[in-house]
Amino acid sequence: MINMDPRQQFLALLLVLLLPVLCFQPCYASSVTRRFRFNLEWKKVNRLCTTKRLLTVNGQFPGPTITVNEGDDVEIKVTNRVANNTTIHWHGIKQKRTGWADGPAYVTQCPIGRGQSYTYKFTVAEQRGTLLWHAHYSWQRASVYGAFIINPRLPYPFIAPNRPIHAEIPIIFDTYTATVEYGKTYMIRVINAALGDELFFSIAKHTLTVVEVDAVYTKPFTTTAIMIAPGQTTTLLLTADQLPSDPTATFVMAATPYVTSIFPFDNSTTMGYLKYNTTGTISKVKLPENLPKMEDTKFATTFTNRIKSLASSQYPCNVPKTIDRRVITTISLNLQDCPQNKTCTGYDGKMFMASMNNQSFLRPSTSILETHYRTGLGTGSSGFPERPLNKFDYTGGNASTMNTNMEFGSRVIVVPYGTKIEIVLQGTNLLAPENHPIHIHGHNFYVVGTGFGNFDESRDPKGYNLVDPPERNTVGVPMGGWAAIRIEADNPGVWFVHCHFEPHTSWGLATGFVVQDGPLPSQRLLPPPKDLPAC
Ligand code: C2O
Repeated sequence: MINMDPRQQFLALLLVLLLPVLCFQPCYASSVTRRFRFNLEWKKVNRLCTTKRLLTVNGQFPGPTITVNEGDDVEIKVTNRVANNTTIHWHGIKQKRTGWADGPAYVTQCPIGRGQSYTYKFTVAEQRGTLLWHAHYSWQRASVYGAFIINPRLPYPFIAPNRPIHAEIPIIFDTYTATVEYGKTYMIRVINAALGDELFFSIAKHTLTVVEVDAVYTKPFTTTAIMIAPGQTTTLLLTADQLPSDPTATFVMAATPYVTSIFPFDNSTTMGYLKYNTTGTISKVKLPENLPKMEDTKFATTFTNRIKSLASSQYPCNVPKTIDRRVITTISLNLQDCPQNKTCTGYDGKMFMASMNNQSFLRPSTSILETHYRTGLGTGSSGFPERPLNKFDYTGGNASTMNTNMEFGSRVIVVPYGTKIEIVLQGTNLLAPENHPIHIHGHNFYVVGTGFGNFDESRDPKGYNLVDPPERNTVGVPMGGWAAIRIEADNPGVWFVHCHFEPHTSWGLATGFVVQDGPLPSQRLLPPPKDLPAC
């Protein structure tokens, strides 16, 4: 575990990116191979009058932005110049047939050891917008992360002729000031790179238009604030339509945590400023009136329910209308008895753990993808349990005191190529209810339904949205509720499924999702690259 100073945590909260935009209008750039070099290295930073070492890529914090065009081949050579192992994950990149480049340690690769290099090679196809990359070894993503921007091949579908995008606003939170011009429209890319905070974000007096989430276009809608979970990304349009009567006025942009946990959390509010290009200095520091309160579950729910796929003829919504298989899994926090001669810092002298269907995930000592490729993992009884082992009132009052005996291991869900699978993520009140952002590697999924309380298999599927559900890579499972997602398993490989709160993942709130090869050559996992690290 990395010891993070509070300020570091603060900076990790949110990265709202502003980059020089390569192309606001259609980028007709033909696809090429884009090469990058990432050196993992320590950087000395002065913080609160002391010097600390921060793990970085190329000495930058946040790390370098990767910008590519849709259709590009990408090669990123990662060299590990520190003593600790590492891996890097390109969060949300589909990695069609290239699971070897996905990154989670011991799931798709052995870590890159000290002095070693590994080149991640993949194609960015059929997705465009804002994503992120981050380290996927231990808690390294606290400081090792950055933006991953995919410029679209075709014009943005949301640009009205009378509302061209003037620029992207580059904002890195920490009292950053963005200067805008009255009447112009800007694009803001919001990336929640935090280890463990869901966030509300708003700009005083301004409305925001959501146009894309997790690198998938949405039906545009306006809102006074957004909610964003760790691992999620949201692209916004902002029209500078508030000419302040006071020329020194500045509008505050703020991010505050959405709190669903009884556990200690980082409650710092992060601020930046939006300033019109009139003269004057920052004189008013007041939180935006439209920023939801930290416990505002009603806002979080209403906002999330408004996100819908664009579902146009150009960008259709390919949600599976029927399914081959439904997996229902609880997602829980647990308390485990403390092993002898150890000190446990969890509640009641015990150890915090977490699980899905009572399975607490342990990473094996070699990569699951390699095992799968060389020997096949097979299907059947050795797999992840497809229903909760004990049925109880998952979200009822008594659940908080229930003891569940977890099993430790690395059991995974195995499906044949092309399976249309539904996974119901059932939150529980074991220990404490919390909102869990569940992320799946290697596929986008459709969030066909969410609700509070216990999922009812005979009732709830009738209310699913099978027309324009949001397509995402990370879903916030409501606190004390459930989310149902559908996936067409068309990407052969082994894909990590986990909570994007880093503590929960390290406690075992994870599993794997294995898609077997299909019959056609184009439906098979590619062979491992020659420089794949060994364990
Ligand atoms: Cu962004 Cu497996 O995570």
